[in-house]
Amino acid sequence: MKVFMTTFIFITALCLIFSVAFAAKHLPEERGKTLFNDPKAFGGSVSCASCHPDGKGLEKSGMKKEWKNPAGTFKSLEEAINACITMANKGKAIDVKSQEMKDMVAYIKSLGMKGMKHEMPMKEKGTGY
Ligand code: HEC
Repeated sequence: MKVFMTTFIFITALCLIFSVAFAAKHLPEERGKTLFNDPKAFGGSVSCASCHPDGKGLEKSGMKKEWKNPAGTFKSLEEAINACITMANKGKAIDVKSQEMKDMVAYIKSLGMKGMKHEMPMKEKGTGY
């Protein structure tokens, strides 16, 4: 009986640890996705998804060293995101260290992961914009 209880507690603890780890891993990109699809997310009037549906065209943005959008060329993903927020969404730039920015970056990085799983690596170059 004692062995059973110990095993039971051990398994329960394991489940807890895994579910916490799972949630921590998945929450930021989920929150980022919600912001990405929300036209009012940054005080703007259109959503990121209206120009980048489902993050299309941003699959490689998590891995770059230089980013481009119609407002210019940027040395960090955070700056590129803020440029699209202010120029395209007509919203307010967010703090590069804010949780919102971390969530957006996490979402954009997750797009690259999806691409790897579901697409052939050398697919033809479509921009998708
Ligand atoms: C009005 C349309 C529009 C909206 C809205 C928009 N973007 Fe963009 N975005 C663009 C265009 C056009 C580019 C340039 C694409 C290119 O040159 O390949 C771009 C480029 C980018 C890039 C750089 C891509 C790269 O890898 O160099 C990022 C990151 C990005 N957008 C994120 C966002 C985010 C996040 C939002 C929402 C806050 C957003 N965009 C909203 C049109 C838009």
